[in-house]
This record gives sequence, structure tokens and C-alpha cells, in this order.
Amino acid sequence: MESTLRWGILATGHIARTFAGDLRDAGITMTAVGSRAPGAAEAFAAEFGIPTAHGSYEQLVADPDVDVIYVATPHPMHLSSALLAIDAGKHVLVEKPFTISQPQARAIADRAAAQGVVAMEAMWTRYLPHMVRLRELLAEGAIGDVRTVIADHTQSLPTDPTHRLQNPALGGGALLDLGIYPVSFAIDLLGVPTEIQAHATMTATGVDRQTAMVFVHEGGRQSVLHCALDTAGSNRAVVLGTTGAIEIDRVWYTPTSFTRYDRDWNPVERFDEPVATRGMHFQALELERRVRGDEPSSLPIDETVAIMGVLDEVRRLIGLEYPEQ
Ligand SMILES: NC(=O)c1ccc[n+]([C@@H]2O[C@H](COP(=O)([O-])OP(=O)(O)OC[C@H]3O[C@@H](n4cnc5c(N)ncnc54)[C@H](OP(=O)(O)O)[C@@H]3O)[C@@H](O)[C@H]2O)c1
Repeated sequence: MESTLRWGILATGHIARTFAGDLRDAGITMTAVGSRAPGAAEAFAAEFGIPTAHGSYEQLVADPDVDVIYVATPHPMHLSSALLAIDAGKHVLVEKPFTISQPQARAIADRAAAQGVVAMEAMWTRYLPHMVRLRELLAEGAIGDVRTVIADHTQSLPTDPTHRLQNPALGGGALLDLGIYPVSFAIDLLGVPTEIQAHATMTATGVDRQTAMVFVHEGGRQSVLHCALDTAGSNRAVVLGTTGAIEIDRVWYTPTSFTRYDRDWNPVERFDEPVATRGMHFQALELERRVRGDEPSSLPIDETVAIMGVLDEVRRLIGLEYPEQ
């Protein structure tokens, strides 16, 4: 699909760089970048060939040559960043987690609806080719009745207590940064859970170091999910059905391959279509389709709001609290 919108990048941190690189490589037009620091915006613009660098987010969202804003601030700032852009009449693609709580997510969704713009969560995994194919296979009944999702997201990330991942004021912890991937995946395949159990071990700074979750979904289906920010695992995921299973290779939430097995674990199908980049442009193209009037292919905004509600409940169970923003 041809890209026709002009993208503006709000914030110049780690993931903004990855996203901008993927957009550039996909030939998607970025017209401006905005940073709290003019120098950072200028360096980012030079690196990615972006014509305009703004020294504030306010200037970025006011830029008439920008149609859609990609929000890449830490998650407690997603609400203010997204509302700033929406009130300036821009569509928004907001990094995951969409916000730090369900009320904040609903506020963005409502404001976007009132302004007549598209707001979408940048859960890029949903739009990767292997995930699109996996959903097709499940819809065709390729593994029968889907009963169980087992998925984790574990990484060895900085343990510096001042890093945003360790800092409650910046929305730190494994759950909202990493755990949201298996949570979103389980809800994609099995729906919003009817029962939630969770246990966590906390860091000295008061965020979750590792969290294990069990969800029960409609019909007694189950998901078993795990995340941790200081131990790296295989990051494979498996979906079990009554006539077979699909195992997604590592790293399951990035562009990757998978194998479908029959009920005796004989391989019957392999999906292996490499993606040259990290594949973050697929979500940008999804947003552009929504702007043109297409129904969401996955993760409509109401599901994003529901996912934030599930994460609120997990946080309540594990005692993970964030200061009011
Ligand atoms: N999709 C993915 O694969 C993925 C991966 C990693 C992170 N993320 C998400 O992306 C968001 C940003 O994560 P990141 O790893 O890119 O963080 P980061 O490297 O710390 O960058 C965050 C940027 O936000 C801006 N910012 C605004 N207010 C800030 C504040 N009070 N403190 C620190 N930075 C502030 C800064 O940009 P300026 O100085 O230019 O204004 C900063 O560079 C998070 O919500 C995270 O969950 C997504």
C-alpha cells in the first residue's frame, strides 16, 4: 500500500530512532521531528533526513506539514503528548503501553473521537506478517479450537535505578514495558479475560522485576504469561488447539517464523518470510488505512482501552502503583 500521510516524530529516544529508521527504509515520508531539546531534534532530523526540527512538542504538533504524530515519550507522558497532538487536529500513533491506566486510555480515545482523528496504539507486533498469517490460520480452524496461549517476554535490561525501566515516575517495571506483549497477544487470540491471577517480585525501586499471570478466558480457555526485565529467556510463544498447535520462533513479538504441528506434534506447515527491518512500518501503514476509512485489521481502539483495564487489574493484584501524573 502506498503511504500518503506526512509523519511527525514526537521525542527522540531509543524507540523513536528505530521507528524512524524503519519508516525511512519503507519510503514513508517524515516531515518533522520534535524534542524538548532543540539540539536533539536537529541531530535526529539530520540522521534520518527529516526536513524540519522543532525545539518543542508544541511547535511540532502545530506544524501544518504534519498529518500524523508518532508519540514516543515514556508511557506516563503518553496522555499529555497524545492530547496535545489530537487537539492540534493530528492523528496519533501512540507507543505501547498506550497509557499507564485505563482512564487515561479512554481519555485519549474519547478526545480522538470528538476531534474526528484516528488514535491507535503502536502495538507493532499485531501487524507483522507472521501474526497476520497466524490469525488467518486460527480463523480457518487449522489447529481446531484454540484452548491455550503460553507466552513470555523477558530481557536483560539496564538495572541502573535511575533508568526509566526502574523508575515508578517514568512508568517503570516489566509489566507495562514487556508484559504488555504477551497480555495483548492472549487477548488478541482469546478475548478479554474473565478471571485474572498474577504474582510479581518487585525491585528495590518499587516496580515489578518479574510478573507471572494466569488468565481465564471465555469457555475456560487459558493463557499463561510471564515477563521479566533482568533475565533473558527464549521468547518463544505457543498456541495450543484441540487438533494441533503453533509454535512461534524466537523472538515471537518481532518479525519471525513459526511452525504448525498436528496433534502428535508432527510439523505440518512452516511460515518463514523474512522482513528486512524491525518491521515497525507495518503499523504506520495500518494507521494510514484507518485514516482512509478502513476498519482496523487488529486492535481497534476499544480493545486497547480494554487491555489497559486488564493491566490495571494486574497492577492492583501485584501492588504496582504509579504516582498520579
Ligand atoms: N515498540 C517497541 O518495540 C518499544 C521499545 C522500547 C520502548 N517502547 C516504548 O516507547 C516509549 C519510549 O521508550 P524509549 O525506550 O524510547 O525511552 P527513552 O529512550 O528514554 O526515550 C524517551 C524520550 O521521551 C522524551 N521524554 C519526554 N519527557 C521525558 C521525561 N520526563 N523523561 C525522559 N524522557 C522524556 C525524550 O525525548 P526528547 O528529549 O527528544 O523530548 C526521550 O528521549 C515507552 O512508552 C516504551 O514502552 C516501545
